[in-house]
Amino acid sequence: MTHILAIDQGTTSSRAIVFDGNMQPVASAQEEFTQHFPNSGWVEHEPADLWATVQSTCKAAMDQTGLGVDDIAAIGITNQRETTVIWDAETGAPLHNAIVWQDRRTAQMCERLRADGHGDQVTAITGLLLDPYFSATKVKWILDQHEGSRDRAKAGKLLFGTVDSFLIWHMTGRTAHVTDATNAARTMLYDIHKGAWSPEMCAMLDIPIEMLPEVRDCASDFGVTDLLGGETPIYGVAGDQQAATIGQACFEPGMLKSTYGTGCFALLNTGDAPVASNNRLLTTVAYQLNGKPTYALEGSIFIAGAVVQWLRDGLGIIANAAETQALADEGSGNVTLVPAFTGLGAPYWNPECRGATFGLTRDTGPADMARAALESVGFQTRDLWEAMRADWPDGGDAVLRVDGGLSANDWAMQFLSDVLGGPVDRPAGLETTALGAAWLAGMRAGIYPDMDGFAATWAREARFDPQMSEEDRETGYARWQRAVAATQAV
Ligand code: G3P
Repeated sequence: MTHILAIDQGTTSSRAIVFDGNMQPVASAQEEFTQHFPNSGWVEHEPADLWATVQSTCKAAMDQTGLGVDDIAAIGITNQRETTVIWDAETGAPLHNAIVWQDRRTAQMCERLRADGHGDQVTAITGLLLDPYFSATKVKWILDQHEGSRDRAKAGKLLFGTVDSFLIWHMTGRTAHVTDATNAARTMLYDIHKGAWSPEMCAMLDIPIEMLPEVRDCASDFGVTDLLGGETPIYGVAGDQQAATIGQACFEPGMLKSTYGTGCFALLNTGDAPVASNNRLLTTVAYQLNGKPTYALEGSIFIAGAVVQWLRDGLGIIANAAETQALADEGSGNVTLVPAFTGLGAPYWNPECRGATFGLTRDTGPADMARAALESVGFQTRDLWEAMRADWPDGGDAVLRVDGGLSANDWAMQFLSDVLGGPVDRPAGLETTALGAAWLAGMRAGIYPDMDGFAATWAREARFDPQMSEEDRETGYARWQRAVAATQAV
């Protein structure tokens, strides 16, 4: 029992990574699955695809190692958060496709709830903002579509889960209906202060509390699976952004990480106390161990790495992401791009605004656009950084730890440090999300170190220190703020 298998069920692909006894990744497999867009602004996954790709990637990763079930001490799961599945408790048949976190179909429902004066109550109980991003209004939408579904749910015949919960139910032979506190905290049905499902939120949305999974610590006994052909315990679960926070060992209040994938999610550890945001950040559970929650302030940006994909697939000015580094170097810095392709997330939360480019001249070319795209990632992070500092002044001099695909881009990370006016650290190991889930499972299984021991293994690959003058930093940021304001007015 020397290894840990981590499952990372993400928005566009499922991954499985095998970690050895030294917490090093030794094998991995990845599989994409189909995204369904049945209407404008709607995004769905077929639950069967999520489960099938988890099974096949686990098998593929294990096959690479030559290890057997007896070599795996435990499984850790991390997952795309908020995505909502409701299924039949006997047959496992989904009542509807999974409604993905990006899906905006419940925007009007949220609008109505806000008009009815529920906004403050939602934030006070859940730490979240009344937005379609979270699971609760998606659950209500599905139940509203199916007559009699609420009665079935009350009778225990229909179950709700985020993706972790759905996978565990299948992995445990349809027995364990459980989740962890970090995933629960993203549903908008969980009272983050009491650490329990909220009867008030369930009543507000007419969601039978009986259909919700049991909530456990992140390192806990989630059941036993025969996924690998024998008996393997599932000992670790955390939503992917929380798992990255754990993988980055942000265990002290004031430590923060930012993950640059399709979007960007920044989490600031605020310790034992949930900090209410006055700047439209989310208050959430960073992790829960030994029954004790540690809280975080979170800023969620919807377009970060995706802006580089747009340069490649939309504009066709690069062949691969790495090209942006040399190109951005030649850019003028006079163009400002606001990548509000799907509206703006924190701290603006405007689903209706759209992207814009400012400062175009006759000689604007690909280099200027590439630079503006990478700068937009830095500027958006600065927005979150400003909001975090205003909400929690103690976090002022924290070093930002970065991970995710775009964190490999030196130009983008240097600009990030420049625009923040603070250091940015990139870790040696880039599998932070999977590592977070693996550590939870391995620590519980007794083969990985405790929290302090794990934090001591965190190693830096690169530090980016600010090189920009204060004047340039503030002039550039003011230009960005004016550009964002203009997109809000349209
Ligand atoms: O909140 C959404 C987030 O968990 C999605 O992460 O990496 O699957 O895009 P990812």
